[in-house]
Amino acid sequence: MKIPRHVAIIMDGNGRWAKRRGLPRIKGHQRGAQVLHNTVKWSLELGIEYLTAYSFSTENWKRPKEEVEFLMNLFIQMVDREMELLKKERVRVKILGRKKGLPENVLKKWNEVEEKTCNFDRMTLIIAFNYGGRKEILDAVESIIGEVRNGKEVILTEEIFRRYLYLPDVPDPDLIIRTSGEMRLSNFLIWQSAYSELYFTKRLWPDFTKKDFLRAIESYSKRERRFGGLSDG
Ligand code: IPE
Ligand code: IPE
Ligand code: MG
Repeated sequence: MKIPRHVAIIMDGNGRWAKRRGLPRIKGHQRGAQVLHNTVKWSLELGIEYLTAYSFSTENWKRPKEEVEFLMNLFIQMVDREMELLKKERVRVKILGRKKGLPENVLKKWNEVEEKTCNFDRMTLIIAFNYGGRKEILDAVESIIGEVRNGKEVILTEEIFRRYLYLPDVPDPDLIIRTSGEMRLSNFLIWQSAYSELYFTKRLWPDFTKKDFLRAIESYSKRERRFGGLSDG
């Protein structure tokens, strides 16, 4: 099987999973966090180099205050709970998103997990948190404008523009998986997804299994990527 170097996941359907069971939405998020833990393990087994998980979007602030608070705390809890696995498996963590607007305790964990794992090299786990693709592009443009105002000459090419995105050294996702049956990107990796292969499954994120993950990789494996060129055969 052809293994994608970078897999990105839109972990969707936590709320519906809970609702179907008559549970509060947060129960779905709790269960979803466990599935992310499992997905990290499956990715390690497969030798995936970069795994990105969309955990909180810049639009998710629109949700009820209690749910937003729960998701902030879940981020903190997850970092603490997963530290052991990260160390054992030598997983480097990067947070992808906007620092502005996040509470102090979340920012502290953000820095802590990046610092503690920065020398690990087996896999990079990217947590998209307070992330919005359009905001990321605007932030990049703003940095460029700032530099130009300070007298720097910036010649804009795709490669140079990329240097201004949040994580310039992370390669574009080869495969983007979205669970729960929704077929949209919801502001995820807008610049980086230009040539990503997309895979949608009806499975709700809390029910996502290794089999589902392998199915997505298998589908990717069979695709021919042409990047605008012509096929080899
Ligand atoms: C995804 O599940 C998790 C986040 C967006 C934080 P949802 O909470 O969006 O679940 P649904 O889409 O309402 O079922
Ligand atoms: C996308 O899911 C964001 C995350 C998975 C973190 P949403 O549930 O927020 O997206 P929409 O509202 O269905 O587009
Ligand atoms: Mg959703």
